[in-house]
Amino acid sequence: MEKSMKIDKIKGKLLLKNPKIIDPLKETVSQNDVLLEHNKIAEIGSIKLDEDIKTIDCNGLVLTHGFCDLHVHFRDPGNGDKETLESGSQSALAGGFTRVCTMPNTVPTIDTPELINYTIEQGEKLPIHIHPIGAITQGQAGSELSEMGLMFKAGAVAFSDDGLPIQNGLVMRKALEYSKMFGVPIINHAEDECLRADGLMNEGEVSTRLGLPGNPNIAESIMVFRDLKLAELTGAKLHVPHVSTADSVEHIKEMKNTFEKITAEVTPHHLFFSDESLQHYNTNLKVAPPIRDPQSRKALIEAIKNGTIDCIATDHAPHNSHGKETTFDLASCGLIGLESCFGVVKKVLVDEEKLGLMNLIKTMTLNPRKIMGFDCDLLKKGKDAEIVVFDEKEEWTFKKKNILSKSKNSPFINHHLSGKVKFTISKGYLATL
Ligand code: DOR
Repeated sequence: MEKSMKIDKIKGKLLLKNPKIIDPLKETVSQNDVLLEHNKIAEIGSIKLDEDIKTIDCNGLVLTHGFCDLHVHFRDPGNGDKETLESGSQSALAGGFTRVCTMPNTVPTIDTPELINYTIEQGEKLPIHIHPIGAITQGQAGSELSEMGLMFKAGAVAFSDDGLPIQNGLVMRKALEYSKMFGVPIINHAEDECLRADGLMNEGEVSTRLGLPGNPNIAESIMVFRDLKLAELTGAKLHVPHVSTADSVEHIKEMKNTFEKITAEVTPHHLFFSDESLQHYNTNLKVAPPIRDPQSRKALIEAIKNGTIDCIATDHAPHNSHGKETTFDLASCGLIGLESCFGVVKKVLVDEEKLGLMNLIKTMTLNPRKIMGFDCDLLKKGKDAEIVVFDEKEEWTFKKKNILSKSKNSPFINHHLSGKVKFTISKGYLATL
């Protein structure tokens, strides 16, 4: 199959001619040129050069901060058949992402400083910025806290047992107390296992019709509520991942009124699909937390629009065909989302729901960087170029050939999207889509 992306090292100068530059930090929109030299921004302005240098015509295109995803599963170490840090980086570049945080549910679990070092060292060789998240508990077993302090010193940017919820409230409380010492967020996959029971999809009319056991909203929202209260009690930072229910949104909104260390994310798939999309038992829509009903979807869209939810995160979760080409009950949970993310959220939030493009960009650039304390002032002379260039108007159909991940478990294949990444520039590389 033809590859849909080409990567070149930027040699010498590269002129990006006349893009619409949207700076989400300064909240400015301008029409200018951007001159890059190797991996740096050399100049932004009206640039006339006598020399004959490589120029990309960006007329009609938008240039902004490279996208930042706080939630990806790159399966490295241990499951290189599904994804590696390298293939995950390709997938990220194809989606306009220049910076990602990797979840620790690998084999072995990333729960030691040595494994944090491993991820950082491997990441340094790759064309995007990779920040490891360390496990909250040893082996993600949910009981003994991992070496959080040592992992933090080694470069862990947050702690999570994602994929598995911290069931024990005392363990969660202690994790928050420790993470507070380092000022980094705890990210708990909120799902009460007893309430979820053997639920395979959202509990409701559709699950009844399909004859599949349901996973109720309250399995998530009750644990989100507990986590918010524990964060308030301990004064620690809590980032709520993949919010899927209206009640969780309400709890987050309420807590944000009085306690400022709460942030939250939503995935493109929870914004795009509802449980009605599962009627053909598409295993690529089997995900944890499950895709909810249309009312929940509306609540998530509203929450992004009014700022209750801060950012978009893909929860890119690669699985191989053995995991997905099976019956719904046996299929693995998770779907890939990096390559399709922008086209999906631009379509839902900007085209259909009339969110301003500036605000959408903030949810994919500024807000996730702020949550992790990453540099947010990127469009400046002298900075390393960390840029995405996209066509905000291009409508296109997402195809398997657009996937650079090693896994193909995307429910977006053959869906019509709006907004297409054209170039991603990161660490001195130019990825052309
Ligand atoms: O559906 C999911 N898959 N949700 C998670 O939280 C984990 C992920 C995975 O690692 O496959």
